Amino acid sequence: MEWTPDARELADLELLLSGAFHPLEGFLGHDDVHAVHERGTLKDGTPWPAPVTIHVPEAVGEVTLLDPEGVPLAVLTVTEHDEDGLTAGPVRSLGAAEHGPFARLRRTPAQVREELAGRPALAVTMRGPLDDLTEITSTAKELGAVILLLPLAYGEQGPAVVRAALKAKEQLPADTIVVSVPLAPRQEPEIDLELREHVAENYGASEHLAGPEPITLPGPPHRRGLVVFFTGLSGSGKSTIARGLRDALLELGSRTITYLDGDVVRHLLSKGLTFSKADRDLNIRRIGFVAAESARHGGLAICAPIAPYARTREEVREMVESVGADFLLVHVATPLEECERRDRKGLYAKARAGLIPEFTGVSDPYEEPEDAELVIDTTHISIEAAVSRVLDTLRSGGWVR
Ligand code: ADX
Repeated sequence: MEWTPDARELADLELLLSGAFHPLEGFLGHDDVHAVHERGTLKDGTPWPAPVTIHVPEAVGEVTLLDPEGVPLAVLTVTEHDEDGLTAGPVRSLGAAEHGPFARLRRTPAQVREELAGRPALAVTMRGPLDDLTEITSTAKELGAVILLLPLAYGEQGPAVVRAALKAKEQLPADTIVVSVPLAPRQEPEIDLELREHVAENYGASEHLAGPEPITLPGPPHRRGLVVFFTGLSGSGKSTIARGLRDALLELGSRTITYLDGDVVRHLLSKGLTFSKADRDLNIRRIGFVAAESARHGGLAICAPIAPYARTREEVREMVESVGADFLLVHVATPLEECERRDRKGLYAKARAGLIPEFTGVSDPYEEPEDAELVIDTTHISIEAAVSRVLDTLRSGGWVR
């Protein structure tokens, strides 16, 4: 079978294959992870500081691991698999070429050790800019060591960390080496530090310094990407409020708008999808994907699908926040009775007559949000008032000025 791991798992896979996780040669399983949580050794006695895990649903035999573009990277031989998908086993490289920003700066530990040729090295692992180079230069001098800058290039900030390393190199001795290492951060700071040390050692370092944790100052909200996600029953008024919001924002002119109304999306982006749970989820993920792409560039996306499932809305929130943008869930909470009384499109009547199966609120579920930033019931307020409430929220949050 084939499987595309997530970004964190792919990063770990690359380090497993390059030898940066030596002596680890595969993903860890239940007992291993358990041992790690107790800060001990792996079950075969190998000392190892941190979990390196992968989740594959229904893994048996051999699993070919693909990158997001579908290129086969490695074969995982499954030795353990549990009901949550946690899968253990050794991996074997298929020798795929690496790509991505600064791919030329990724080298295997063996290559780096060869370049060091036995000279002592001071490794500096970095997740952000180095604000003080004096400690590094003096320590290196004391040890007579080559400086090895290891930017831990992972995620959205990855390329910026590599640029910070290249910038630091300009002010360091000429033989300073920069190697980009896709090491994803571990939750526990202690474990993270131990793993950084371990990887640095594999790259030939005799000493290790951890660079300062980056202070991530998000941009001001009016420059940050934002997704305003309306959810609610058919006929609740979400499309009308969403359209009013879009028009008001276009009149203000301070932000670029992407508008993804439910019915509009189903004409092209999600054309052909049904109203089954699986298709609704796919529809919402597509909307979330496009919204997150707009927000990634600082855009403001307005979405207005029914989005009946809490878990899927949650997924969209995660997608948006992972690109450094903000997510605002607006529950248009007009009750079913009122939506049905209005029945603008005549759909409720048809649904009651059994002509439309799986109709949300009638014969299909709607999971009320518990995490909405704003709840609007349009039963007794005008569209203008509803739009104003959203606009006020955007103003008070600083998203529009
Ligand atoms: S969602 O569930 O996938 O989020 P979406 O917002 O795209 O739904 O589409 C909802 C619109 O499709 C409704 O406003 C209504 O006009 C139409 N529709 C047609 N069939 C159904 C159905 N079975 N359930 C809900 N809406 C339906």
